[in-house]
Amino acid sequence: MHKPFSQACVNNQQPISDVLKRVFGDRQQVLEIASGTGQHAVHFSAVLPHLQWQCSDLAVNHPGINAWLDDALQAGASNIARPLTLDVTQPGWPCLMSGARCDALFSANSLHIMSWSAVEALFTQLNTYLPIGAIVAIYGPFNYNGCYTSESNQQFDGRLYLRSPLSAIRDFEAVNALAQDAGLELLEDNAMPANNRLLVWRKTC
Ligand SMILES: C[S@@+](CC[C@H](N)C(=O)[O-])C[C@H]1O[C@@H](n2cnc3c(N)ncnc32)[C@H](O)[C@@H]1O
Repeated sequence: MHKPFSQACVNNQQPISDVLKRVFGDRQQVLEIASGTGQHAVHFSAVLPHLQWQCSDLAVNHPGINAWLDDALQAGASNIARPLTLDVTQPGWPCLMSGARCDALFSANSLHIMSWSAVEALFTQLNTYLPIGAIVAIYGPFNYNGCYTSESNQQFDGRLYLRSPLSAIRDFEAVNALAQDAGLELLEDNAMPANNRLLVWRKTC
């Protein structure tokens, strides 16, 4: 299969991994939500070899993720697992319920694509199933105090709306409120290139 390609992943993978090396330094098992092309999973599992990286996404994206994983596994990668089917709106994520103790969760560029009710569902699941002490790292664009952080983010939000009125750049404060309700304490809000952020929380209760 032709491997799907995201230039954004190439551009942001190093700045993201610079932070993940620190905040996932003592982690073992990462669940990635919305793996997309699979490029991030391949890159992060390679530069963070102490981690077991579990991809997931809607089933429609699995052929592309698997195409990237085929090459990585053939090249000897041993810490990356085939994608799970995971729709955040569906209750009872099997991977978190199965006893596989994931102690970290990562997702990039997903909250502004999924609907707000899906974002709420995601944090409800984290509240229910994520173990105490787990680290959650979420990358993407966010608004602060109801304002865009750049003109390019405002234009991007306009394009998102045209593609789906349910997609939108999310307010940091609203997302952090969901996180707090889910027992997550904000540890870091890292500035990233191209007006993105990398938010990091720890599950405390
Ligand atoms: C813009 S892509 C980001 C992909 C990848 N993480 C990246 O940074 O390139 C948005 C992703 O969100 C996923 N997504 C949308 N709705 C979802 C849902 N309800 N549950 C899980 N993933 C969802 C899509 O399948 C897609 O992979």
